[in-house]
Amino acid sequence: MKKIFFLYGLLAAISPLFSSNAQIHEWQNYQNKVLRHQKTLEGWCSITKAKSMMDLIYEVQPTLCVEIGVFGGSSIYPTACALKFLQKGEVYAIDPWETSFCLEGYAPDDPNYVWWKQIDLNEIYLGFLNMLDYFQLNSYCTVVRTTGLQALDLFQDESIDILHIDGNHTENPALTDAKRYFPKVKQGGYIWLDDVNWSTVSSAKEFLLSNAEKIESLSTDEYFLFRK
Ligand SMILES: C[S@@+](CC[C@H](N)C(=O)[O-])C[C@H]1O[C@@H](n2cnc3c(N)ncnc32)[C@H](O)[C@@H]1O
Repeated sequence: MKKIFFLYGLLAAISPLFSSNAQIHEWQNYQNKVLRHQKTLEGWCSITKAKSMMDLIYEVQPTLCVEIGVFGGSSIYPTACALKFLQKGEVYAIDPWETSFCLEGYAPDDPNYVWWKQIDLNEIYLGFLNMLDYFQLNSYCTVVRTTGLQALDLFQDESIDILHIDGNHTENPALTDAKRYFPKVKQGGYIWLDDVNWSTVSSAKEFLLSNAEKIESLSTDEYFLFRK
C-alpha cells in the first residue's frame, strides 16, 4: 500500500513538468509554422525580430499591444498569431495606408520619397485585411486606418503592454510617436523601436534611451527593445 501511495505522489509531482514541457513544445511548433508564413508577407520584419516579438508576447501575456505603422502586416502577423495561441489580448494595427503621410518629411529627390510615391497603399491595405481573414486573426487585431497621432486618444495612460513604433521614419513623426505614446505604455511595459540605425530615428531613440531601459539581449543594430 505504501508503495502505491509513493508512486501516486511521484506521478503527481512530475506531471506538471510533462505538461509544461508539452506546452512549450506545442508553442515552438506553432511558432515555427507562423514564422514560415511570415516570410511570405509584405513588409520588412525580419524573422529574428518576428521570433523575438512572439517570444515576448508568450512571456508577458499582454492584454493590449499597439503597432504604429503596419504596411502589409509582416510584424502584426506574428504578434496577432502569438495572441491567438494564448487566446487572449489584442493588437491595434494603426496605419493610414495613405501616400501623403508616407511622404511627409522627405524631399522629393529622396529615394524614400520616390519609393513611397509609387506604391499602391490601398492595395497593400486590402492585402493586409485578406491576410487577417485568411489566418482568422480578426478577433485579435483591431485595424485603425489613421495616423498614430490621430489614434492617440483611443488609449488610456499606462494601458499599453507592448508598443511597436514603426510608422513614418522622418525625424518629427518618429519623435512625436515616441513622445506622445510613451505615457500610454504601462510602467514595466515594452516598446519596440524599429530602424534605430536611421539618422532620422535618432531623436526618438535618444528620447527612449533617456526614459526607459534598453533590453540589450533583445536589441539589434536595426531595432531596440525598451522596458519602461
Ligand atoms: C516601415 S512601414 C511599416 C512596416 C511594418 N511594421 C513591417 O514590419 O513590415 C511604415 C508604415 O507606416 C505607415 N505610416 C506613415 N505615416 C504614418 C503615421 N503618421 N502614423 C502611422 N503610420 C504611418 C505607412 O503607411 C507604412 O505602412
